[in-house]
Amino acid sequence: MSFSQYFDLLPSQIAFLDDVVAGLNSNPKQIAPKYFYDKRGCSLFEDICNLPEYYPTRTELSIMAENATAMADWIGKGGTLIEIGCGNSHKSRLLLEELQPTEFVALDIAVEQLKSSCDALAQEFPKIKIVALRADFEEAPAIPAEAGISAAPRALYFPGSTIGNFTPTAAREFLSRWAPVLGAGSYALIGVDMKKDRALLEAAYNDANGVTASFNQNLLSRLNRELRADFDETAFRHWAFYNAEEGRIEMHLKSLCLQIVSLGGARIEFSANETIRTEISCKYSIAEFQELGRAAGYLPQTFWTDSKNMFAVHLFKLPPNLATP
Ligand code: AVI
Repeated sequence: MSFSQYFDLLPSQIAFLDDVVAGLNSNPKQIAPKYFYDKRGCSLFEDICNLPEYYPTRTELSIMAENATAMADWIGKGGTLIEIGCGNSHKSRLLLEELQPTEFVALDIAVEQLKSSCDALAQEFPKIKIVALRADFEEAPAIPAEAGISAAPRALYFPGSTIGNFTPTAAREFLSRWAPVLGAGSYALIGVDMKKDRALLEAAYNDANGVTASFNQNLLSRLNRELRADFDETAFRHWAFYNAEEGRIEMHLKSLCLQIVSLGGARIEFSANETIRTEISCKYSIAEFQELGRAAGYLPQTFWTDSKNMFAVHLFKLPPNLATP
């Protein structure tokens, strides 16, 4: 391990089981998308990011490549950069080069990916202190005092439109929870997928090679392996569509027949065509997302987008009168 420190703040497998059972007993049935990311899920997600149909990753990367200098001019060099859901860190590299922070805190739920990204970054940026936090970032965990990370202001980077995986209300609450962790005067740079033509959106979540379908269905193998569930993986099918009323892609696993699944002592009944909603991916216009940020107490500063208005990177600032952590 060549990065400075590692902390595991993730709740136990018991919390995972309780959460999944509660979601499968709710109506409609749902499981949070954070559970996609076991080892195979991370690797399938990397494959998705390289698909011709999945435009968000390459579009956001091009926005970062073109504008990272301008972003650093706004935020200022040095200081602490916190990245949520660091993934393979391609985009963070661009920012790290320009911002040259003294400290970089990377948060992710997927431990192997987190450690390998931080290792690679530590080798490329030996002057930056790198702290890896395995955590459920939705909870906005306080950075452990032992990490010795400087107090506010800090800069937050939340790429990939992962914020779209929350409902707008949950996204607002999430940003509000992060505000005291960041502190007064901090900047937040957030990647957000934009509303667009239904066909483009639906193709991105229904790729021709079935990689997204495998990513969705891998959730069932994970539940079978880690929670000793007995899902018949061939009896569920990937289903993704754009819900225009809610402005979001929805991903589901649809039961192909009447069936009963056991998991952690619970018996869950599925009727034919009943679904488990495994992900929502909300899409926002510039004005809608700026309004969401404002409602969470963040002041919109500017945004960057691509020539086709497919994706946006928003910059917000927390007001100076916020209580510091
Ligand atoms: C991580 N998240 C932003 C991706 C998305 O587009 O909502 C996850 C994904 N699901 C299917 N394809 C990609």
